[in-house]
Amino acid sequence: MNIPEHIAIIMDGNGRWAGKRHLPRIMGHRRGVESVKNITKACVNLGVKYLTLYAFSTENWNRPRKEIRSLFKLLDNFISTQIRLFNENNVRIYFIGDRKKIDPEIRKKMEKIERDTKDHKKLILNIALSYGSRQEILSAVKALSGEVKNGLISPDDIDEKVFSKHLYTKHCPDPDLLIRTSGEMRVSNFLLWQISYSEIYVTPKLWPDFGEKDLEKAIEEYQHRERRFGK
Ligand code: FPP
Repeated sequence: MNIPEHIAIIMDGNGRWAGKRHLPRIMGHRRGVESVKNITKACVNLGVKYLTLYAFSTENWNRPRKEIRSLFKLLDNFISTQIRLFNENNVRIYFIGDRKKIDPEIRKKMEKIERDTKDHKKLILNIALSYGSRQEILSAVKALSGEVKNGLISPDDIDEKVFSKHLYTKHCPDPDLLIRTSGEMRVSNFLLWQISYSEIYVTPKLWPDFGEKDLEKAIEEYQHRERRFGK
């Protein structure tokens, strides 16, 4: 079958989806949450083991305050109401990113849903929130420098495996497939280290329109690619 073990998605195009319908941007994000639920279930059914979704980047903090507030309200609502989806589908939640900037009340809920789903094994759903790959790499470098300084590790022992274990994604293999919706050909500071050998699939579909059939199409194309890992 060759189902990708780990799929990462840059969920783009919510704003354009709303704009086309003369609706406020937040309506696009709201429909985007429906796609998140559908794609999570589809991944469970297809046997994907890890799904990583780019929900809010470090750069997104520069968006208008009103949009940021609405986005976090949607996220808050998603984690508070979807426990049934996670329980029924055996989904474990992780948040990856810099939590320091996130409202402490929401942070507590994030920690709670991580605890409440910790025994689920079918799918690991990583939600990248306040996430930036350069920031992630820098914090790994800082942590490793500290370990060297304290004599816990020698510089010669720092290899790719050790470095990967200092990233937010230490609990996952690298993504096999990276999907970006809405046609943009960019990686936008997402998982820069981890996608070194991922297959990239870009679709013109906007995220709120991206459904199970579109995911299957992406996987089908992935299955026809020959992965050589530089060999
Ligand atoms: C990109 O669309 C999307 C985002 C910045 C946010 C993604 C968030 C969600 C789908 C909802 C919440 C997520 C979860 C996990 C519950 P854009 O606003 O950049 O669209 P545009 O490029 O068309 O303006």
